[in-house]
Amino acid sequence: RAMSTSAIQQKEIRNITVIGAGLMGAGIAQVAAQAQLKVTLVDTTDKALENGRTIITNSIKRVAKKKHPEDQAKQQEYIDAAFQNISTTTDSKQAAKDADLIVEAIVENIKVKQQLFKDLDAAAPEHTIFCSNTSSLSVTEIAKATSDKRRQQFAGLHFFNPVPAMKLVEIVRTEELQDTVFDQLAEVTKKIGKTPVSCKDTPGFIVNRLLVPYMLEAFRILDRGEASPQDVDTAMKLGAGMPMGPIELADFVGLDTMKFIADGWRETGGIEPSLVTPVKVLDDLVAEGRLGRKSGKGFYDYTKK
Ligand code: NAI
Repeated sequence: RAMSTSAIQQKEIRNITVIGAGLMGAGIAQVAAQAQLKVTLVDTTDKALENGRTIITNSIKRVAKKKHPEDQAKQQEYIDAAFQNISTTTDSKQAAKDADLIVEAIVENIKVKQQLFKDLDAAAPEHTIFCSNTSSLSVTEIAKATSDKRRQQFAGLHFFNPVPAMKLVEIVRTEELQDTVFDQLAEVTKKIGKTPVSCKDTPGFIVNRLLVPYMLEAFRILDRGEASPQDVDTAMKLGAGMPMGPIELADFVGLDTMKFIADGWRETGGIEPSLVTPVKVLDDLVAEGRLGRKSGKGFYDYTKK
């Protein structure tokens, strides 16, 4: 492969800055730290950073127990070693300064993401690779907030929830992404114990492009009164080998998120419209504040146990 003379000299990825210390950002920080990368975790408030630390602590305890089932001292050693690789700050520009890679996992809002990346572009060194963990937005659109040069080093790096358990990372290639940068991202993905797949910048990439229309069709089965939620879930688990049925999976993901993605794709296009037509039962549940597991009720009721 010919190297273009204008290609920016790439460094090995050692320092990762993760922006957003929520569910996904905390998970990404954790797996990177476990792989001995230096991680700076950023959020807007100390409270949000504290939340991120709590998410990591709870998860890493389980990992440590699995690694050293009988040995509490070794468990603690493992936890301490990982935490030694993590620092936290509310100053994203400062955190960009010695990042080889920045992974953004903030709120799913294109304007907010673009503003963040615009600021980071000015603050980060030339070689820094920029990635978004967006599930449903166009990586190309987000990258438009940055310079021509940076856009050649701007990709989607899409992890799955829960990050410590899910083995896949979709690396989303925009038209402008350099092959050398893609290769580096594939390498760092493997280093943190995940398997990368490559995908163009299209709605839902691979996994959600297939999963979201499938789940919406499951909701339509309910809407039409053809089967119960329990029967749909049992059918897909026992008949199609799915680990979770589509209805319980939707409750796990969050019904507001499901609706947000379907509505967004309907607006931005790039997907067959009939695959994302509105579904009454979904709209009704979201309007009632029944958002799934996180609100106690969704298609199922999680309040009684
Ligand atoms: P979350 O709501 O748990 O966490 C988002 C965090 O970002 C919060 O701590 C918030 O304070 C922080 N934040 C918001 N604006 C910020 C800013 N300007 N600068 C720094 N921090 C900021 O959200 P979650 O679920 O972790 O999602 C984050 C991203 O990951 C979204 O783009 C989402 O689409 C994507 N994603 C989510 C998955 C999921 O299953 N939840 C799966 C894969 C991707």
